[in-house]
Amino acid sequence: MKKMIKILALVCVFAALSVCFVGCGEEAANTNVIKFGTNAEFPPFEFVKGDGSFDGIDIQIANLIAADNGMTPEIVNMEFDSLLVALENGQVDAVIAGMTVKPERAEKVDFSISYYQATQVMIVKEDSTIAKASDMAGKKIAVIQGYTGEVCVQKMGYEYTSFKKGTDAVMELANGKADVVVIDSATAAKYVADNKDLKIVEDATAFEGEEYAIAVKKGNKELLDKINASLQELLDSGKISELGAQYAVAE
Ligand code: ARG
Repeated sequence: MKKMIKILALVCVFAALSVCFVGCGEEAANTNVIKFGTNAEFPPFEFVKGDGSFDGIDIQIANLIAADNGMTPEIVNMEFDSLLVALENGQVDAVIAGMTVKPERAEKVDFSISYYQATQVMIVKEDSTIAKASDMAGKKIAVIQGYTGEVCVQKMGYEYTSFKKGTDAVMELANGKADVVVIDSATAAKYVADNKDLKIVEDATAFEGEEYAIAVKKGNKELLDKINASLQELLDSGKISELGAQYAVAE
């Protein structure tokens, strides 16, 4: 009887071990996954399609970078404000989110070469008298929390209201509860294309050029080198301009 118990115990140990081996094997296969953090509220760079899948210029770039390095891409969607923390925590490997390179951000994470040039613009009602940035004085300004547009308006010294999503800010404008939304150019073009009552006002003297880049955890040179090499290829081959033409509204 004792022998039987011993044998049973052994069988159990083997069974447990084999489960572990299977489990560990799966984990090993997963090490080739590259997790891209984004905030899919930023067309044409990242948005959620009707079927719940992610699409946009950045999503395509992420897929191409992963393929170029024999990795499987995984998109992790979260609030824009959480992205850099998620990178620092190791929750994601890279952030691709139409993210503008800023010295304050570069203190926390490392940025790749830039892959897109943008600027802030103002979205206003078709009949608005706002023609330049200084016309926003005394107006109801809407921005999106944590975006560079918020920082711009803050620096100009105007009061503003921050929204969680671009669509919320634009809704406020369309409803007449805000007079102007300050947001990135290509995203503004998308919102205006969807709402004929709105127009874009540019002011190159007030809003400086911005460069979008991919962020990695500080010191992750190995991944940064891979991303930079792939991005350079995508820029040189014209693939990124092609994606821009495919997803953005012609200006
Ligand atoms: N370019 C702006 C910034 O870096 C806005 C980016 C918003 N991106 C997004 N995926 N929601 O702050």
